[in-house]
Amino acid sequence: MSQALMEKIGINYPIIQGAMSWVGTPSLAAGVSNAGGLGMIGAGHEPGEFVRKLIRETKEMTDKPFGVNVLLLSPYVDEVVEVVCQEKVKVISTGAGSPGKYMKKFKDAGIVVIPVVASVALAKRMQNDGADAIICEGMEAGGHIGKSTTMTLVPQVVDAVTIPVIAAGGIADGRGVAAAIMLGASAVQLGTRFVVANESIAHDNFKKRVIKARDIDTVVTGQITGHPVRVLRNKLTREYLQVEKEITSDKNPDFARLEELGRGALRRAVVEGDKDTGSFMAGQSAGLVTKEQSCEDIVQELMQEYRALTSNPVVFA
Ligand SMILES: Cc1cc2nc3c(=O)[nH]c(=O)nc-3n(C[C@H](O)[C@H](O)[C@H](O)COP(=O)(O)O)c2cc1C
Repeated sequence: MSQALMEKIGINYPIIQGAMSWVGTPSLAAGVSNAGGLGMIGAGHEPGEFVRKLIRETKEMTDKPFGVNVLLLSPYVDEVVEVVCQEKVKVISTGAGSPGKYMKKFKDAGIVVIPVVASVALAKRMQNDGADAIICEGMEAGGHIGKSTTMTLVPQVVDAVTIPVIAAGGIADGRGVAAAIMLGASAVQLGTRFVVANESIAHDNFKKRVIKARDIDTVVTGQITGHPVRVLRNKLTREYLQVEKEITSDKNPDFARLEELGRGALRRAVVEGDKDTGSFMAGQSAGLVTKEQSCEDIVQELMQEYRALTSNPVVFA
């Protein structure tokens, strides 16, 4: 299934760069696609014409296929869907809901549709709605997360659907790639490792934090709001978690304060490198990320490590 998926998308390696708001710009997407993987630009909450500009910039930097992450909750979703179809983007990934309503339009435009899911039920629903493949994301991942781990979710989704499954969350080296393939995944999606790519526009403070991070340096905020987010610890997360605690104990329920703390926080981390008030979204795999490299070197290293492991399997008597 891996080969069929790669042929369908038109990539050389089963490596997908996860869409990342603010970080997933044309330079990163083109870098990953030029390296033989699949780069993804994030449409976020941007209007259609802005997304068209991003797509055209990416086309200037690569003649390889790349994808766009369509945020279904965006107020501009209808115009973004129109633009990705007009621009004949090769792949779209979607989060927060089902792209069912737009499926015919995507299919008519020849677009490969790959929703992100965090549960077996949602995976089945996406397959029924006509998805071509599924990105199955575990709670080790950076950014918005579900409740299950990649290790447990991927094989259960693989058992539940017949379309290819792409594993995401906690994968940052060739060992992770090999493990995901063993679990039945056809490809992998990485976010955190690509934050520190040379082609990533993430502020140096962000890249340094990811590189310095240890295994226990991420926390999950937003449990209380129903939108949990994995992020590196800092002053912002300490304050956020404190307010969450106060709300839970009903001491001083201040949801407005949470909203205020979170507003614009990812942009402050990515663009300004604000160590105190920025939201440095990153996965538990940050502890495995040790250096800044080009997308080409990251993709090649992942594949070399994967090949070394799989050509030397551990055999038990
Ligand atoms: C800084 C950052 C921003 C992210 N933003 C988005 C996003 O806008 N849309 C989305 O579908 N996933 C987003 N993600 C999740 C990634 O696409 C990817 O699935 C995830 O990072 C994979 O797990 P990993 O971080 O362990 O590699 C984001 C992740 C990070 C680290």
